[in-house]
Amino acid sequence: MEREAGEASRGRTKSGASAQRFNVETNSEPQEMSCCTVVLWFFSILLISITFPITIWFCFKTVAEYERAILFRVGRLLPGGPKGPGLFFVIPCIDEIQVIDLRTLSFDVPPQEVLSKDSVTVTVDAVVYFRVQDPTMAVINVENYKRSTELLAATTLRNVLGTKTLAEVLSHRDEISNTLQSLLDDATDPWGVKVERVEIKDVRLPIQMQRAMAAEAEASREARAKVIAAEGEQNASRALKEAADIIAESPNALQLRYLQTLNSISAEKNSTIIFPLPIDILAGMMKR
Ligand SMILES: *[C@@H]1O[C@H](CO)[C@@H](O)[C@H](O)[C@H]1NC(C)=O
Ligand SMILES: *[C@@H]1O[C@H](CO)[C@@H](O)[C@H](O)[C@H]1NC(C)=O
Repeated sequence: MEREAGEASRGRTKSGASAQRFNVETNSEPQEMSCCTVVLWFFSILLISITFPITIWFCFKTVAEYERAILFRVGRLLPGGPKGPGLFFVIPCIDEIQVIDLRTLSFDVPPQEVLSKDSVTVTVDAVVYFRVQDPTMAVINVENYKRSTELLAATTLRNVLGTKTLAEVLSHRDEISNTLQSLLDDATDPWGVKVERVEIKDVRLPIQMQRAMAAEAEASREARAKVIAAEGEQNASRALKEAADIIAESPNALQLRYLQTLNSISAEKNSTIIFPLPIDILAGMMKR
């Protein structure tokens, strides 16, 4: 549902933007100034000429290397695109300028509580890097491109994470970041904004889930340890069986083994006397 709503809203912004973009294009065609504008323009120039030494200082504006200025003359966008960097000429009474920063900006997407596809609540936050690619569109098509991009990033994050399971969220962060980046970039195109990078900072799980996962990990480690111990036992018994088979091949070998054992016992407890009773004798008695 949420995702569909997101897509619908994205579609809306796109179609709205294309209509507006059409406006921009017609605007940028050279148009003859209306009579009123010409009069205003004439009086402004006259005023500047009369009060020349003082007003001339208000007629030049500068913008820095990384900025562009969008110029409106009596409310209409001036043809010729954004001005700058450097020095340019304005008519103080009838021109209005807006300066746009072209450097990469970043913001934190506030932690979002998202229900993943397998119904686990995770809290995810991210950081987004973007810059203005087209200053004219950033001024004309959207009231506040920074705030709009921020809000859109939060909803896109929710939409995308809602389609992923917890395991995917935890293990495919790069993939999710790339998806987010391309979705956001497409959606912000009409605003002249280029989303350069999206990084998922942190994925936090609820405490109960953390405990459950820790218990699961511990159990699987224990199971592995048991298997390894059992394998060792198996190997040891196999080796022991092989040794017994070799000893059984010649009875003298067993005799030698007895003597060896006696020797090692006597070295430790030299006051004890041991009399070995071969088991074979007992076996003979049992048979009878
Ligand atoms: C048991 O022996 C097999 C091969 O004979 C070996 O691959 C395995 O690592 C051994 N297991 C242990 C626990 O030493
Ligand atoms: C028996 O062993 C003890 C130490 O365990 C040693 O002091 C003693 O000399 C030994 N006796 C003989 C007869 O070897």
